[in-house]
Amino acid sequence: MSFFTDSPITSWIGNPSAPFDSSAQNPVKGSKLEGIIKPIKIGNVQLPNNLVLAPMAGVTDGSFRQLCARLGAGYSVSELASCKALQMRSSQTIEMIKFDGNTGPYAVQIFGADPDLMAEAASFVESLKICDIIDINMGCPVSKVVKTGAGSALMKTPDLAANIIKSVSKAVSLPVTCKFRSGWTENSINVKEFAHAVIEAGAKAITVHARTRQAMYTGSANWKYLEGIKEISGPIPFIANGDICSEDNVIELYERTGCDGFMIGRGCVGKPWLYAQLLGHTELLQENFRFPIFKHHLTDMLMEHGSTAVPLFRVHLFGYLKNHPHSASLRRSLCMERNPNVVLQAGKDFFDRANPIDREA
Ligand SMILES: Cc1cc2nc3c(=O)[nH]c(=O)nc-3n(C[C@H](O)[C@H](O)[C@H](O)COP(=O)(O)O)c2cc1C
Repeated sequence: MSFFTDSPITSWIGNPSAPFDSSAQNPVKGSKLEGIIKPIKIGNVQLPNNLVLAPMAGVTDGSFRQLCARLGAGYSVSELASCKALQMRSSQTIEMIKFDGNTGPYAVQIFGADPDLMAEAASFVESLKICDIIDINMGCPVSKVVKTGAGSALMKTPDLAANIIKSVSKAVSLPVTCKFRSGWTENSINVKEFAHAVIEAGAKAITVHARTRQAMYTGSANWKYLEGIKEISGPIPFIANGDICSEDNVIELYERTGCDGFMIGRGCVGKPWLYAQLLGHTELLQENFRFPIFKHHLTDMLMEHGSTAVPLFRVHLFGYLKNHPHSASLRRSLCMERNPNVVLQAGKDFFDRANPIDREA
C-alpha cells in the first residue's frame, strides 16, 4: 500500500511495485526555470524534459534510475558497459544494463577503442530491446580504461573517436550519442575540435563534462569550456555536465552556454528530489516525503539486488546523511552495516530530526 494516494505524482512513494507514472517528468508552467527546462529530441527519441541523470558506475542502477525518473529526470544513461564484456555476453554486464522497470527514455553506455568491436557490441545491445539510445563513453578517466585507448583517452585521438561514432551509427538504427570531457589536461583543451569531429561523424547528441581527464572528479567543473559548444553543435542537442546542483546553476549555465540540456550526477545522490525541484513539482518536495522516499529507495534496491543491496546502498545512504551533525561517526558506524533495518532506522532518525536546515544540501 502506498502512503500517499492523493495524487498520481506521489502515489508511488512507499510502493516500489507501483507502475511508472511519467507525470512528474512534465515541466511545470510558471516555474522558475520555465523555458529553460523543456522537452527535447535526440534523433527520433522525444525526451519529456532536458534534465538527465548522469551515468555513474556503482550508483545509477535500475532502482536509482527509476527513482530519479519518478522524481522527474527526463532521461537516464546506464553505467558504462565494456564492449568486450558484451562481446563475450557477460551475464553480469547484461544484468547491469538491463532493467525491467520503466524509467522513460534510457541510453545504454558502452566503452571501447575498437570501432568494429564497438559496432558489434552496440548491435547486440540494440537486439536486447532495452534502450532508446546508444551512448559512447569518451570521458572515463580510470587508468584501466584509458590504457586501452578507450574512455577519455579518445580525446587524444579524435579521428578514432569519429570512426567509432561512424561505425556504431552504421551498425544500429538507434540514435548514437557520446559523452566526453573538456580535454585530456588543462594544457590540451580540445573540447571544441572534438565536438566538431564527433558531430560531423554523426553523433545525435553530445554531453560535455567540464573537467579534464587530469582533474578526474576533483576540483570545480570549469564551465568556461562549455561556452561556444552550442554554436558548434547547431541543431544537435548539447547537454552540459559538471557541478549542477541548483536552480541558480541551471540558469547560469544556460545563460553562459545556451545548452540544450543539463546532466546531473553527484548533485542528486542523497537528493534525488532535485529533479522535482528544478521542474517545479513542489508537491514532491514536502518534508514528510523525505523518509518515505529514502525507504522506498532502499526497498527497491533490496528487490533488485537481494542480499548485496545494503552495501550497494551505502553511497546513497552517505549522500542522504551528508548534513547529519554526526555524519563522520555515523559513517564509521554504518560503513560495514549489512542489516537493512539498522540502515532504515538511521534514515528515520535523521529525517525525523526537528531542524530541516540540517538536511539541506
Ligand atoms: C562514482 C562515479 C561513477 C561514474 N561513472 C560514469 C560512467 O559509468 N560513465 C560516464 O560517462 N561517466 C561516469 N561518471 C561521470 C559522471 O557521469 C559525471 O560526468 C561527473 O560525475 C560530473 O558530473 P557531476 O559534477 O554532476 O557529478 C561517474 C562519476 C562518478 C562520481
